[in-house]
Amino acid sequence: MAHIFHVFTKHPVPATLAAECDACKNFVALHKNQQGGVAFMPMGDIVYLNGAFTQRQDARISPLDRGFLFAHAAYEVTAVYGGRLVDFEGHVSRLRNTLDAIAIPNPHSAADWEDLHVQLLHRNGLQEGLIYLQVTAGAYDGRDFAGPDVFTPTVLLFADHRPLIGPVAEHGIRAIFLNDIRWRRRDIKTTQLLSQALAYRSAREAGAQTAFMVEDGYVTEAASANSWIVTEDDQIITRNLSSDILPGITRAHVIARLRDRGLTVEERAFTPDEAYAAREIFTTSAGAMIAPVVQLEDRPVGDGKPGPVTRLVQRLYYEALGADVSKVAAWALA
Ligand SMILES: Cc1ncc(COP(=O)(O)O)c(C=O)c1O
Repeated sequence: MAHIFHVFTKHPVPATLAAECDACKNFVALHKNQQGGVAFMPMGDIVYLNGAFTQRQDARISPLDRGFLFAHAAYEVTAVYGGRLVDFEGHVSRLRNTLDAIAIPNPHSAADWEDLHVQLLHRNGLQEGLIYLQVTAGAYDGRDFAGPDVFTPTVLLFADHRPLIGPVAEHGIRAIFLNDIRWRRRDIKTTQLLSQALAYRSAREAGAQTAFMVEDGYVTEAASANSWIVTEDDQIITRNLSSDILPGITRAHVIARLRDRGLTVEERAFTPDEAYAAREIFTTSAGAMIAPVVQLEDRPVGDGKPGPVTRLVQRLYYEALGADVSKVAAWALA
């Protein structure tokens, strides 16, 4: 695992060592094959579960947990860059909204949540990647739909080492269109993710890396990201907030950065035809930050390469994280 971690963090182990290590060889092969796609990345070994940090393989959750039985659970995904949490305030505030909406008592203050995240990232040596936070309605001695009056939550945090400013950001991805078959409360971040899991499987089968979901003739969002287009006349458009989409924390950050620069973001729904006609398309999410979409179904977006507005958004966002763009994303400066 240590070798894989070195390969992944771009501090290569000596070639001979990597060549002797099957896990490293497999990791490198998989990563190369799937650049721009779904890639295996090492998960952090230490997790936090219900009050204690523990080895991931030792963590145990009840089979009667309502997260497992009913998807009665909230989650959040916070990016870590340069060993620091990104946009944490937004994530903890959205978590509060989700928990309120699904009747789970919030077990921690914002400061305690932050402390748990920071401890977890230190314990896992996480420099670049994601921290997942899952809060379920917990388990009690029974299974019925309504459950007890007051839930005692199960809290799990785990870390995922992955490059956030990497090949996807540099080269872009391909998207397909799919019908949006999700439930009506997409504005809260729950673990009801079956339709998105299936959307990713359909995208992969079609040789794409994500799906743009369509409802009533309009794009809602991408499978796990907010979607943006830049029109022929340079209008920057992303869908307005409502219960139809998740209020992305990255989306809000990008809107603020663009407005700081005096640029206008039009918040409205757009159609698949507008997306086909767009000069540029990108998505925003904690998990992939700013991902250019360079192909939509079988058509190139613009000239088939990430465009200047996408590159500007990437630069603004990476700079806000404290990244040295000339070193880690020189391609975004062109
Ligand atoms: C459906 C959906 N929309 C948008 C987003 C982007 O949200 P954020 O920027 O907070 O990661 C996500 C992230 O997982 C998502 O699942």
